[in-house]
This record gives sequence, C-alpha cells and structure tokens, in this order.
Amino acid sequence: MGRQAPRLPVKIAIIGAGAVSDYHHVPAIRLDRRAALVGVCDANQELLHKRTADWGVAKITTDPEAICADPEIDAVIIATPNYTHRPIALAAIWSGKHVMCEKPLGLNAAEVREMYQAARDANVVNMTAFTYRFAPAMRYMKRLVASGALGEPRHFRSQRFLDWPETSWGWRQYRRLAGAGDLFDMTIHRIDLALDLLGPLARICGALARFAPRTVTAVGESCDPSDVDDWSSILGEFASGATGVWEGTTLAKGYHRLGFGHEWAEINGSIGSAVYQLHTPNTLLVGKTGQDLAAIDVPREFLKPADSPRDPGQGEPATVFRYDLVWEFVSAIVAGRAAVPSFFDGLKAQTVADAVIVSHAERRWVDVPRERR
Ligand SMILES: NC(=O)c1ccc[n+]([C@@H]2O[C@H](COP(=O)([O-])OP(=O)(O)OC[C@H]3O[C@@H](n4cnc5c(N)ncnc54)[C@H](O)[C@@H]3O)[C@@H](O)[C@H]2O)c1
Repeated sequence: MGRQAPRLPVKIAIIGAGAVSDYHHVPAIRLDRRAALVGVCDANQELLHKRTADWGVAKITTDPEAICADPEIDAVIIATPNYTHRPIALAAIWSGKHVMCEKPLGLNAAEVREMYQAARDANVVNMTAFTYRFAPAMRYMKRLVASGALGEPRHFRSQRFLDWPETSWGWRQYRRLAGAGDLFDMTIHRIDLALDLLGPLARICGALARFAPRTVTAVGESCDPSDVDDWSSILGEFASGATGVWEGTTLAKGYHRLGFGHEWAEINGSIGSAVYQLHTPNTLLVGKTGQDLAAIDVPREFLKPADSPRDPGQGEPATVFRYDLVWEFVSAIVAGRAAVPSFFDGLKAQTVADAVIVSHAERRWVDVPRERR
C-alpha cells in the first residue's frame, strides 16, 4: 500500500446514518482514540438532525459528494442501501478517501469489480464490513484450521436462522435496491467466512425461496410486495475438494434468541470438528474422533485484535466484537497497509452469491469464476 500515514486522529465521515452506523460504527469510532467522527451524511433530514444531536457532529449534509469533496475528511464509512454503494464508493475513492463499505459491496459482481479496481488503482485503504470475521470464536477457528489442529478440512456447514416479523423490510425487499434478500443480507457473510477458512469455491448449486409477501409496514401502511428471497441455501465444492452446505432464513419461528437468532458455523476436519455460535462468541465447541463436542474458552489473544482498547469483558459479547471492524480499518490507515477483509474479499464473496442466483434461475450447478487481483 505504502501511503503516507495521515495525521491523527484519522477524520472519518459516516455516509448513511441508519441502523448499522448507530449500532456498530459510531460506538467503534468513539472507542478508538486514533479516530474522530467529523461528518455525517444521510438523505433523511429528520434522521440527520437526530443523529447530529445524538452523536455531536459538526459537519452534516444530505449530499455524499459534499463529504467526498471535503479535504478535511480522510476516510468514509458507507452504510447506505445497497444500490447506492457503488456510486458513493467510486466518488469517495476518486477523491482519495479511504473507504469501508457495508456488504454486499454492490448489486452484482460487475459493480463490485469496478469498485475493487478503482480502490486498487487509487491506492486507498478499502475494506468490506464482513462483521462476523471479527467474532472471537471465528478468529480462533481460523487459527485451528490454519495450524492443522482439525486435520484436513472436509466439510463447512453454516446455519443462520432468524425469527423476523413478516412486515416490510423497506428498501431491503426490492431487487433493484438490494440485489437479493437473505442471500445478500445474511448468507453473503457466511460465504465470506467459508472462503476465508477454506479457500476458493470451485462450483456451487444454490436455491432461493420467498414465502412472505411483506405488503404491510411495521406501522400498518401498505406497500408493494417483496421480490427477493427470504430463504437461501448453497451446496458447494471447494477447490481443495472440501464440501460446504449453507442455509439462511428469516422465517425460523422460535429462533429469536434476544434478536441475535441462531448462527452455527462448523468445520469437520479429518481429526476434529470446531463450531462457532454467534450467541456465545467467546467460546468454541470442539471435539475429536470418538468424543462429544464440548465448549472451550477462546484464548485471550483471540478475544480482540492486539492493541485494541476494547475490554472483552465489557458489554454484550454478541455485539461488542463488531466494534473491531473500525479498529482494523483505522489500523490499516495508520500503518499504510491493506485492510482485511478488503474489497477483493467482497468481490470474491459477491461472485459466489451471483453464481447462486444463476444456479437457482437455471436449476443447475455453476462453476464459480476465479477473480484475479
Ligand atoms: N455488516 C453487518 O453486519 C451489517 C448489519 C446491518 C446492515 N448492514 C448493511 O449496511 C447497509 C445499511 O443498512 P442499515 O440496516 O443501516 O439500513 P438503514 O435503512 O437503517 O440505513 C440506511 C440509511 O442510508 C440513508 N440513505 C439512503 N440513501 C442515501 C444516499 N444516497 N446518501 C446518503 N444516505 C442515504 C437512509 O436515509 C438511511 O438512514 C446495508 O448495505 C446493509 O446490508 C450490514
């Protein structure tokens, strides 16, 4: 990367001041003494003024271009609806800003490839907000796989079951605004986890379904029906020969679990298995041949990135690891290195997700194209 480190604090603007910015990104910036939240952009004036009061930020605007044109701003976090990610990210990159962008990076792999190439060519730090990579149990599982402690990885298995109301999802329930439903909202995170743990997928067979019409909002107003999936699934063969099975749904009644739902991500290796669960992210289930799975504590050094000021003993464990995304983004900017996961990781996951849509539409297995840097 080799860029000159900016003067501290790194000055960050949030573009899209909705739910995820309030829940993940702003608390994370507050924790990081190397970073300052200096600007907020949102298309919704009313929300913008509420956030200004809540977050105490001087620069506010409804225009992402104004953020991009501001020389005082070093970096942006894009947390707007999916169809806006590409134009906003390109404008920020072309203005020389470092960019963290929410997943999915775009509406399809062609959009994401353009974003990745622009960030690479502009030599800005680029990061995809694949949150679950930062869960302590996932960080430790990666070590166990890489060290060979589980033997040869044979199977990856992921379940993400949410018990959500069947009312409108707003912009999320329309293909032209979101790209896809559960597949791009939830399963794409688990595609990324699998690629990170086991390397590239060679081919997949995917299936999607939609059950809930979602023609009523949470406050009882009528709206156009959803045209995206609320159930997604994948069978996959990795280039290594390992197999993968993914299932995601927002319609799993009885899986509410304080809103966190059920998440299970598992590796079965030739000598052992390891399981990550979102609601207990500081423990891992492990077992070897002939044993039953048993919970072990994630070792201290995997509870958070080194040097992060976050106290892993504080807060709701299934929430607080999400703050480590901003820590990684700022660390990469300060060190002049690439961030992980990058836009290239976002592109690889998007290529698989696109293949799922093709596979479902054509009712066949699809080879996954290999992306090149
Ligand atoms: N990484 C994760 O775990 C995670 C979790 C939740 C959401 N997300 C992603 O974050 C993004 C936002 O999701 P959310 O739940 O916060 O949505 P949201 O609807 O709560 O917030 C989006 C905000 O963007 C604003 N907006 C819309 N168009 C804009 C524009 N052109 N310029 C500026 N502001 C604009 C809206 O007014 C709204 O306030 C989505 O891409 C979603 O997939 C990721």
